[in-house]
Amino acid sequence: MWRKKLSVLAVASAVTLSLTACGGDDSGGEDASTEITGKGPITFVTGKDTSGFVQGVLDKWNADHPDEQVRLIELPESADAQRSQMIANAQTESDEYDVLNLDVVWTAEFAANRYVIPLPEDEFPLDQMLEPVVETAKYLDKVYSIPVQSDGGLLYYRTDLLKAAGVSEPPKTWDEMKEICEKVQATPEGKNVACYAGQFEKYEGLTVNAAEAINSAGGVITDESGKPNVNTEEAAAGLDFLVQSFEDGTIPKEGITYMEEQGRRAFQEGRLLFHRQWPYQYALANGEGSKVVDKFAVAPLPGLDGPGVSSLGGHNLGISTYSKNKETALEFIKFYSNLENNRDYVVTASQAPVYTELYEDEELNKQLPFLSILGDSIANAQPRPKVVNYGDATIAIQDAAYAALTGDMSTEEALEQLQGDLEEITADQQG
Ligand code: GLC
Repeated sequence: MWRKKLSVLAVASAVTLSLTACGGDDSGGEDASTEITGKGPITFVTGKDTSGFVQGVLDKWNADHPDEQVRLIELPESADAQRSQMIANAQTESDEYDVLNLDVVWTAEFAANRYVIPLPEDEFPLDQMLEPVVETAKYLDKVYSIPVQSDGGLLYYRTDLLKAAGVSEPPKTWDEMKEICEKVQATPEGKNVACYAGQFEKYEGLTVNAAEAINSAGGVITDESGKPNVNTEEAAAGLDFLVQSFEDGTIPKEGITYMEEQGRRAFQEGRLLFHRQWPYQYALANGEGSKVVDKFAVAPLPGLDGPGVSSLGGHNLGISTYSKNKETALEFIKFYSNLENNRDYVVTASQAPVYTELYEDEELNKQLPFLSILGDSIANAQPRPKVVNYGDATIAIQDAAYAALTGDMSTEEALEQLQGDLEEITADQQG
């Protein structure tokens, strides 16, 4: 019943979205709302700043721009809640939001619905940025946002506990990870530590973790041409890793409620041996209040038969169609996304840079031991499905994965349902 409802909803909104996308002026011509004019105060709208870095950058800008002050608007931690608030704001055509910090997976949806405007790409050093990251900022070959932060999954692990158990290397496969957990849990130091967690609450983080498990077993959610192909043995082997891990206690029960921050707290409090997490945790877990300072390192994500595959994460800045001060917004994006700020972002908050040269910088690599592993994670990462109605696609993935992880459906049933839902959701996008 629920499945039927979801599909109907998905189709209904797919139709609405495609109509919106095709309506209006499709000649590529400019109308008043896409003109980059207007100077004055602006807002910077972003998900909760868990890194504590953003306000400092805004203060720097504000010190030099007395008549074009930027004010921070922080939205909730969950990517889905951020997306809904930004869309609700655009649908009321409100000018309260100027610069939007967009998750890389929203570009198609925000561009097709004209919630954000096309940007003059020749005014930005995009050729100095990682190519797959720049791709996330484009829709139908036009640039709609400017990369400021990339993201790749890492396996955080407790070096002290591995050492105490006589283990010298982090795991490359899921089986190795489970074996190491058993060894560590058999030691006095490790007996109360849970084995593994990631992000499994029903939100965007679950889409990321389910996609990574599927990709890390050789499966895909959508193929290179964008067609859903998730009802396969490979995808089942991937999702099964998570299902089995909940069943056998590799992932603690409460892991089903974890978003990034709950997992980070568990890791920092010393309650987790292995944690799939983004790079931002590195600085915080080595900071004030953490019980694991200097007691952890990162490794590539493990997979079924060898190293796993991360989902490509990150954020790009766009300008709301309804902003009154687009000229200021554009200048602010140039400032926020510049090389210097991007370097500070990784040094102070361990956020993944978007400039290629920062990954090659010897000085930085000495200072930041995670940087080269992070660079590889991003270089090998898979994008999530690039669809206009991304909101529907991600809900379908979350529904299926959550049903499998909580035992409401078998892995096979969940993947069959997901394949059907994604076929309906992407039907109007073929051609
Ligand atoms: C991080 C990633 C983003 C992803 C989100 C999921 O913020 O940068 O791409 O969607 O986590 O929780």
